[in-house]
Amino acid sequence: RGKRAFIAGVADDNGYGWAIAKSLAAAGAEILVGTWVPALNIFESSLQRGKFDESRTLPDGSLMEITKVYPLDAVYDCPEDVPEDVKANKRYAGSSNWTVKEVAECVKQDFGSIDILVHSLANGPEVGKPILETSRNGYLAAISASSYSFVSLLKYFAPIMNPGTFLFLRHLLYPFSSSFKNIVKLSLVLISGGATISLSFIASERIMPGYGGGMSTAKAALESDTRMLAFEAGRKHQIRVNSISAGPLKSRAAKAIGSKGMSYIDRMIDYSRENAPLQKELSAGKSLPFSLTLTSLKEVGDTAAFLASPLASAITGAVIYVDNGLNAMGMGV
Ligand code: NAI
Repeated sequence: RGKRAFIAGVADDNGYGWAIAKSLAAAGAEILVGTWVPALNIFESSLQRGKFDESRTLPDGSLMEITKVYPLDAVYDCPEDVPEDVKANKRYAGSSNWTVKEVAECVKQDFGSIDILVHSLANGPEVGKPILETSRNGYLAAISASSYSFVSLLKYFAPIMNPGTFLFLRHLLYPFSSSFKNIVKLSLVLISGGATISLSFIASERIMPGYGGGMSTAKAALESDTRMLAFEAGRKHQIRVNSISAGPLKSRAAKAIGSKGMSYIDRMIDYSRENAPLQKELSAGKSLPFSLTLTSLKEVGDTAAFLASPLASAITGAVIYVDNGLNAMGMGV
């Protein structure tokens, strides 16, 4: 069978999660998504009404199928963690089984296992504030939603991720030498184990004025966890853990960044266009006006598909830039 992917953080067709779903679907994967509970109804009804049909179109002309949409709130690990006011909230009360542990259990019941786990979600309630003015609660909430959410997803999904298959390969050592011709070497080769991918941003390692509320901290934590979790999940489950540091995209989440005047994301997109080594146009993923993004959705999606594939079987613990090279610049032009 083809691979099965669970993508957490898809609630419209404008974000990186959607783009990754499309690239994985184009490569033959079955797609399951986790959608933030408050955004679930509108996403599902838009999907059913055909609002996304144009952007569901894959390179071969077929439409991407999403096999199942799961409600998810990655801030809560299990039902005991959910505060009463959230339980009682109208938008949450209509759905069930949306904590991380329960979603993993539902996916197990429905499908048995997955091969690919994608974390494409972030939230920082005070992202519009400089970090110096961010409250403790705002800072911790950013890390909870944007960094620990990945730890939690991996923790609960790892047991249902297909481990890699080990194959013994028999090599003949010194095949042309008569004296050594009987010496054989056995080596153990790992064939395409489970793969996980998260989305990061350069604010984790460079000063990006305006990316506030502790979101820069959250991305630094996410990247650091990428390394530790690569080790732990690699040793325990043969799962690879990588992150994509993506260029700026005017997604729903990005529009919330910054407070006054021209939005942060517009400034970032302009800066990238002026200063990145590659000033190329959008390569089609979805027909967005050029001003919406410089790193195309498809380029990030395709990198995720590569990282999830056996072509990347020796890549783990890595943060891969997909940003037209902006990260490599030392000075603006
Ligand atoms: P997006 O708005 O498409 O995705 C964010 C998703 O997170 C939304 O679907 C939202 O509903 C979901 N979400 C928020 N809180 C959640 C929770 N508690 N539980 C479950 N889902 C929750 O926006 P975008 O920009 O595509 O974001 C995806 C990832 O890409 C994020 O990690 C973001 O930080 C990262 N990224 C975005 C860049 C940009 O310029 N847009 C640049 C680099 C990284």
